[in-house]
Amino acid sequence: MDRQAEFEKLVQDIKEHTCSLRAGCIQAVPGDGNINSPVMFIGEGPGRVEDEQGKPFVGPAGKLWEEAIGNLGWKREDVYITNVIKCRPPNNRDPLASEVEEHKPFLERELEIIKPKLIVLLGRHAMQWFLPGEKISAIRGTAKRRGGRIYFVVYHPAAALYDPKLKSVLMADFKKIPILLKKIDKLPPIEETKKEIQAILF
Ligand code: URA
Repeated sequence: MDRQAEFEKLVQDIKEHTCSLRAGCIQAVPGDGNINSPVMFIGEGPGRVEDEQGKPFVGPAGKLWEEAIGNLGWKREDVYITNVIKCRPPNNRDPLASEVEEHKPFLERELEIIKPKLIVLLGRHAMQWFLPGEKISAIRGTAKRRGGRIYFVVYHPAAALYDPKLKSVLMADFKKIPILLKKIDKLPPIEETKKEIQAILF
């Protein structure tokens, strides 16, 4: 199966799955965008507007994310964006650890198909999944390499919506993304199995 076919199968599996959140939401929300993008953005989970429209980051936080990538000259169809969980939790509450576990295989498949050069973790929940034990205020704006993957942590756009100070930090952090992408190409290779987290760049 080629990558496009694998991706379409994944989208179908996400749309048809049953999980503990599925009965309480309108629809599952698969990732969206360009599967050849070198950058994958990962948020927490669909909110009300995403649940209604079936697309990630199309509500108020999504507008801010579009503004942030727009500053880099990108549109949403240029990059790939997804969430840790694909179904909206009731009243937008934080996802439970068990719900994150249920959805983990979907995100792993997305990562396997897209193989992004850089994974941008939007907010605490996405960060906790990949870099457990870290504090977002301490590591935002920095890139970490763990095994074969490189992560860049930023505040969640929803957190920056009503706080101009966080918004300017978020916008400044996004401006580092194209610089990071250029630097990643020049990094020495690392064994996929190497588990310790290396701070790289910034
Ligand atoms: N917040 C998220 O984390 N994901 C979305 O899709 C929308 C808002």
